[in-house]
Amino acid sequence: MRTQVAIIGAGPSGLLLGQLLHQAGIANLVIELRSRAYVLERIRAGVLEEGTMRLLREAGAGQRMDLEGIADEGIVLAFDGERRRIDLPTYAEGQRVLVYGQTELTRDLMQVRDAAGLPTYYEVPDVAIHDATTDHPWLSFTLNGASVRLDCDYIAGCDGFRGISRQSIPPTARREYEKVYPFGWLGLLADTPPVSREIVYAAHERGFALCSMRSLARSRYYLEVPLNETVDNWPDQRFWDELRRRLPEPYASELVTGPALEKSIASLRSFVVEPMQYGRLFLVGDAAHIVPPTGAKGLNLAASDVHYLRSILAKVYHQGRHDLLASYSALALDRIWKAERFSWWMTSMLHRLASDNPFDARIQRAEFDYFTTTEEGRRAIARNYVGLPLRAID
Ligand code: APR
Ligand code: PHB
Repeated sequence: MRTQVAIIGAGPSGLLLGQLLHQAGIANLVIELRSRAYVLERIRAGVLEEGTMRLLREAGAGQRMDLEGIADEGIVLAFDGERRRIDLPTYAEGQRVLVYGQTELTRDLMQVRDAAGLPTYYEVPDVAIHDATTDHPWLSFTLNGASVRLDCDYIAGCDGFRGISRQSIPPTARREYEKVYPFGWLGLLADTPPVSREIVYAAHERGFALCSMRSLARSRYYLEVPLNETVDNWPDQRFWDELRRRLPEPYASELVTGPALEKSIASLRSFVVEPMQYGRLFLVGDAAHIVPPTGAKGLNLAASDVHYLRSILAKVYHQGRHDLLASYSALALDRIWKAERFSWWMTSMLHRLASDNPFDARIQRAEFDYFTTTEEGRRAIARNYVGLPLRAID
């Protein structure tokens, strides 16, 4: 088999990249370890920056997002019961974010890929990368029990944090930066009206809480919990009681509860690998970096990598600009590190278990006051929240 760009992984990174490359006239093939149903069962965040929305529309996958997504013009930050709203358009040049679940977005991307008749292979084990530092890279994998060779010009490693792409770069050719936080998020999904139409980030002495939504009839809530917690310790009633205690008024009294559709605990991690290129292999999205979910940047960073890689590949194929290939990593990382900083900062400011030093607790409070009450503080939060600019490639 042969294609121009071989894409490993059918998450948002791989599917969005595949679609945008196709529209630029570049053939690609997507190879995914799991089944389509498995990919669609993963529940993840869903806050889209305007840059991400633009890319999805460009990929032809923006219709349902534009119809069903919930525009969010403000975020509410709370600290021990005190509530401050940051108006995003006021402080971020008219920009806002859209709440639209990643599961739905993945479904839309799968549909446009199918409609365009582009090849995607699901349930493909044993993917391995070969000759990435030569002009003739190739993949091997097992398809319907037979071993297959796929020759290509470039490989996009879109296979998430636990994929094989990053691991296939020799340890001497990469450096990893990591911070693991000593707490997790217990998430609950319920068919109840969200307590607020705007996302609420609440720091509290009992621990952080987050109110989000998937629609006006489906809520998504999270509680900070110690890392050794298990879901079994959290029957629905305990979750709702704890959430109510951590939320400021009027949310605490207005909270509507109901049976959980899903409950799970996620650990929080900051991670970056440098560089994001090894010969003709390019890492994209979670394969190269992880952010804690506090700033809702994971999916948006994946989209920003896709923007840089497809812009570069389009110029390579159509204008012979091979020189640009070497700039991918630095361009992507510039934006990634800024989002890493913002996510780490939001996480550190709002979580109870970020430190057990009372001095640090006072600093968290001072930081909250400074950033939510000053013009420059609000601007910094709003501009980072809606997403820093995506640079054009020339
Ligand atoms: N071979 C093929 N596919 C693989 C392999 C492998 N060896 N290993 C993993 N995969 C697949 C996974 O099954 C998954 O479907 O790669 C895909 C990676 O998708 P994601 O983990 O969703 O990563 P990405 O597409 O970069 O999306 C980033 O997802 O994790 C969230 O917060 C993150 O929202 C962000 C977004
Ligand atoms: C979510 O809706 O799941 C969500 C929203 C905002 C975040 C994290 C997760 O910061």
